[in-house]
Amino acid sequence: MTNIAVFVSGSGSNLQALIDSCNSGFVPGEIKLVLSSKKNAYALVRAKKAGIESLCLRPADFSGEQEYSEEILRRVKKRNIDIICLAGFLSKLGNNIVNEYRNRILNIHPALLPKFGGKGMYGMRVHREVIKAGEKISGCTVHFVDENYDTGPVIMQKKVPVKKGEKAEELAARVLEEEHRLYPKALKKVIEEKSKKER
Ligand code: GRF
Repeated sequence: MTNIAVFVSGSGSNLQALIDSCNSGFVPGEIKLVLSSKKNAYALVRAKKAGIESLCLRPADFSGEQEYSEEILRRVKKRNIDIICLAGFLSKLGNNIVNEYRNRILNIHPALLPKFGGKGMYGMRVHREVIKAGEKISGCTVHFVDENYDTGPVIMQKKVPVKKGEKAEELAARVLEEEHRLYPKALKKVIEEKSKKER
């Protein structure tokens, strides 16, 4: 069985989709840990309800990115985590963890990368920029995490048409619905390919 950790900072609706997909058996893995960078993240409530171990590590409590990532790495290794899923996690991971978990850290982004990604491109800002640019199609992307923001290899994407005159909030809600379908599919794919290689 593949051990999964999900890193969150907010509502955790993608975490919920992953929990449900593991529980139903669609994703052949088990979420062993939910790690939040924020104390009041609703994702922590979701973890508790699902009976999953959770912990909160705030970057501000560490001297820097390196020290923060070392602590995270120590915690995930202790629990034999195979795959890390970032689901609305707003802190940057240090190179130590990216190196150790190369091609085993996934992230979901609410646009069609490589467009509308990079530092500071998160939340409603992404959808506002998509609308401002007059895009007819947006969507979401699950990709592997590398040393930079939103630049790692794409695993799966789903397109979502932008409606005429639509507000960023409306587009965000429709993209989010697709995120909840895409993330479990992409995670399933990664786990299945990983276990084929290990055979
Ligand atoms: C999602 O839109 C995701 O694409 C982005 O952050 C948001 C997290 O939402 N990375 P939630 O916490 O999963 O509801």
